[in-house]
Amino acid sequence: MAMVAPSRASMTDGLGRRIDYLRISVTDRCDLRCRYCMAERMTFLPKNQVLTLEEIALLADLFIARGVRKIRLTGGEPLVRRDMPDLVRRIGRHLGGSLDELTLTTNGTRLAEHAARLHDAGVRRINVSLDSLSPARFAHITRGGEISRVMQGLDAAREAGLAVKINMVALKGVNEDEILPMLHWCDSRGFDLTLIETMPLGDTGEDRTDHYLPLTHVMEHIRQRRRLTALPERTGGPARYYAVEGMGARLGFITPLTDNFCADCNRMRMTCEGKIFMCLGHEDHVDFRAALREGGLEAVQPLIDRALRLKPARHDFRIGAAAPAAALSRHMSVTGG
Ligand code: 5AD
Ligand code: SF4
Repeated sequence: MAMVAPSRASMTDGLGRRIDYLRISVTDRCDLRCRYCMAERMTFLPKNQVLTLEEIALLADLFIARGVRKIRLTGGEPLVRRDMPDLVRRIGRHLGGSLDELTLTTNGTRLAEHAARLHDAGVRRINVSLDSLSPARFAHITRGGEISRVMQGLDAAREAGLAVKINMVALKGVNEDEILPMLHWCDSRGFDLTLIETMPLGDTGEDRTDHYLPLTHVMEHIRQRRRLTALPERTGGPARYYAVEGMGARLGFITPLTDNFCADCNRMRMTCEGKIFMCLGHEDHVDFRAALREGGLEAVQPLIDRALRLKPARHDFRIGAAAPAAALSRHMSVTGG
């Protein structure tokens, strides 16, 4: 197919926010079943509904031509897709030119075999999800995952020269006692740590209200022990970062429920089916797959403007008694974190 001609039309939404960060979920599949993310038995999408490598690469080219400067590949678990190395290489070719950064969010189970190749393709930073350092707890939270594989993956990432940020979902009564130990552990390995509040996305067969842990409490708890200094830098993501007294590790908080970070949101998400969501908390989306399969890239171009117009001012997550009976039905594994 023809190369995408650069377009001067900018990626600015109706509220003047520049949207230059695209997260692409490359698969809804995962080799783990984290309790807050998935149900134990999941029905995954049939292959023909999932974008092919070629389709993802073409859409990425198009978005980059329109002004996207940062891409994060997510899932599900992106490294369960067999053609991931090719996809990363293809998108990575834009680095140093019109793309500033290509990153990945992974559960780490297959990182040992991929780390060096990711670095070769230009990836410099990755986020690895890890909610506990205890093998038994890790197995419980992930419904059967082996932590040793993640540890091997993290070692490989370090050897390959990838900067690592650990993502830890803070769960009341499950891993809240591990937050400080995790921070020390990350610091000792040269990793950063980001704590995430549970978000009500998708049916997991468990009641998330039971495990909702407001991060404001966690921050207070840490503050009583270590001074936290807010850092000005944003990585283009929704986290707020702090320097921790006496530590090299930076500590981030992603608090979709207690803190609205929508005002300077620069993100949009593409699902593995090619739907563009402009906000995690809204169902509105634009279907790029149908347009691409029926009309090619020509047909997709105008959809970008339609998507930009859809971006809402803010999300509207709710959890607990006041929440509507059904939380947003999309799983995080479909939309990407
Ligand atoms: N709430 C909060 N975080 C979630 N993640 C997956 N599902 C949820 C949820 N419902 C996290 C994963 C991963 C990141 C992409 O999102 O643990 O670290
Ligand atoms: Fe898989 Fe990540 Fe969901 Fe866990 S949170 S089941 S690792 S996609």
